[in-house]
Amino acid sequence: MTRYVMGRTAQEHERLRRQAAIWQQATGRLLDVAGLAPGDRCLDVGCGTGAVMQLMAERGGRVTGIDLDAELGEKAAADTGGTFVAANVETDDDAVPAGGFELVYGRLILLHLPDPVAALRRMWRWVAPGGRLVVQDYDMESTEAFPRLPVTAEWRRVFLGAYAAAGRDYRLGTRLPALFAQAGLGAPDLTDVAGRLGTMADTAGMLAATYRSIAPLAIEQGLITADQRDAFLSDIDQAGRDRPEVTMMWPLLIGAVKRR
Ligand SMILES: C[S@@+](CC[C@H](N)C(=O)[O-])C[C@H]1O[C@@H](n2cnc3c(N)ncnc32)[C@H](O)[C@@H]1O
Repeated sequence: MTRYVMGRTAQEHERLRRQAAIWQQATGRLLDVAGLAPGDRCLDVGCGTGAVMQLMAERGGRVTGIDLDAELGEKAAADTGGTFVAANVETDDDAVPAGGFELVYGRLILLHLPDPVAALRRMWRWVAPGGRLVVQDYDMESTEAFPRLPVTAEWRRVFLGAYAAAGRDYRLGTRLPALFAQAGLGAPDLTDVAGRLGTMADTAGMLAATYRSIAPLAIEQGLITADQRDAFLSDIDQAGRDRPEVTMMWPLLIGAVKRR
């Protein structure tokens, strides 16, 4: 099994909850545009804390989540009245029935996989005829302070650098149309771009949390030492207090929808 670059700690689970709250509207809107109807069988691939399972259930979907992380997934299913299947989207072709879902969805999952095209093919197989595949994933290139600050340059060096060194594509969102084509799906029927323009005051915590989660990998890769990690965490905390007004562009959350 390939390594999940963000790790599996209680702090990372909490970060996922905060991140999901931020994108709740953008995802709800895309589920509506994609035509999720009451009674649809919905699959959330890489369901994490179940935030999207909740959005599906609120729209009358009958929800299944799959994830490698059974602790998160079992709780997600209990919270949303759905079903959970512990499975690896990199290898488990038959984790769920082929053609079994009117809606197959995945958010922030493909950019964690070394072979996102193979995962897309697998997810497409799970879509029922006439159903839809919906994917939302990041292009993290946009993540930057305006004006630029040394502390955000350091975040970019380490966070984006660790992703790239692990063979992951931190710009994957922008490549979704190309990946759909490579997976044999053809061009998406529609695409969507969601963004968030925040401030250092409301973003420093997320920059710290993402850096903290990837630090063990970045240390192994030789990108940072434990002392540099501690210095960054102190600097970003300071930036949140000293430069709260600085504008922060977040990663773009890019969506693509394809009807089968
Ligand atoms: C960044 S989180 C996103 C969670 C959720 N989709 C959301 O947007 O809130 C990525 C999730 O994918 C799961 N994951 C990573 N690799 C996976 C794999 N190979 N198969 C299934 N799930 C995987 C992780 O356990 C984690 O819960």
